[in-house]
Amino acid sequence: MIILGIESSCDETAAAVVADGNRVVASIVASQVAIHHPYGGVVPELASRRHIEVIVSVVDQALAEADLDPSQIDAVAVTRGPGLVGALLVGFSFAKAYAYGLEKPWVGVNHLDGHINSVFLVSDPPVFPFVALLASGGHTSLYYVTDHIRVELMGQTRDDAAGEAFDKVAKLLGLGYPGGRIIGQMAEKGTPGQIVFPRPFLDRNGFDFSFSGLKSAVRRHVQEYLKDDRDAIPDIAAEFQEAVVDVLTDKLIRGARHKNCDQIALVGGVAANQRLRKRLLAEASREGLAVHIPTIDLCQDNAAMIAAAGYHYLRAGFKGDLTDDVYSRTRV
Ligand code: KG4
Ligand code: ZN
Repeated sequence: MIILGIESSCDETAAAVVADGNRVVASIVASQVAIHHPYGGVVPELASRRHIEVIVSVVDQALAEADLDPSQIDAVAVTRGPGLVGALLVGFSFAKAYAYGLEKPWVGVNHLDGHINSVFLVSDPPVFPFVALLASGGHTSLYYVTDHIRVELMGQTRDDAAGEAFDKVAKLLGLGYPGGRIIGQMAEKGTPGQIVFPRPFLDRNGFDFSFSGLKSAVRRHVQEYLKDDRDAIPDIAAEFQEAVVDVLTDKLIRGARHKNCDQIALVGGVAANQRLRKRLLAEASREGLAVHIPTIDLCQDNAAMIAAAGYHYLRAGFKGDLTDDVYSRTRV
């Protein structure tokens, strides 16, 4: 089954062609970083407008890369939520109209199910059940995954998401947007432990997370000490990153032990972090756990993961209806 996936929940306009829910035939991601960069974060209205400008050509490019005519796709899968409503509406309305015009089935997909299914797009995918950590700009959640579209929430952040903390700390340090990758690069030049930041909820609160206290600790340190000493930025970035990595790694491994699982997965934009990937691989191998992390392009928002999840929605009998609407936060 050939599925055209479409994603426009935030600041990436993406389209992809995926075969049988696990083989990426083509994947195009048009990033809006340059548009939002001057504002230090995503401006929702600008995001929606840019999605409108590029959606047609992004879909055309994906089909061209797959060497397919639109009539050769079997179904369309599109992100329905959560995300920015105006941004979601562009992809969602486009997908409805596109599928209607082609007389093909279509289905709205939860973005988080998309991230979880990203791990099935690489070789050697996990076997069910497994414990997955989704760490992105909007979410930090630990799931017990029993099926492609069935998950049990074990814990989640009580305040900021891990990616959001990276973005806010990058802003505090004057490093710009988007923060995750910049902090990762800066941290490579520094040494963790020169300054000590807290590891929130490390040994308690079950599988919940909290990152706002860590962000405040960085802010206090910056206000007190960083005025004249910009040389300290790499050490601050390294210690902040290490604190996040400590918490994420520990909770994911403990979650697997708690559920008696020998398989773990790390997904979402923060899974692109090199230090996190390395630490998780090392510690999981000590614990005898098999680790599954998608390639970097599949960690960040993309449409291949939406097509992969959509494949399983369709197989389970879900189908979109033209009266369906997008949702910003909760599942509907
Ligand atoms: O999954 P994603 O592309 O979009 C959401 O669904 O939110 O995740 C974006 C988040 C941003 O907060 C970004 O700063 C973070 O992922 N991120 C990283 C890295 N690359 C992206 N965080 C840490 N290290 C990175 N290398
Ligand atoms: Zn995402």
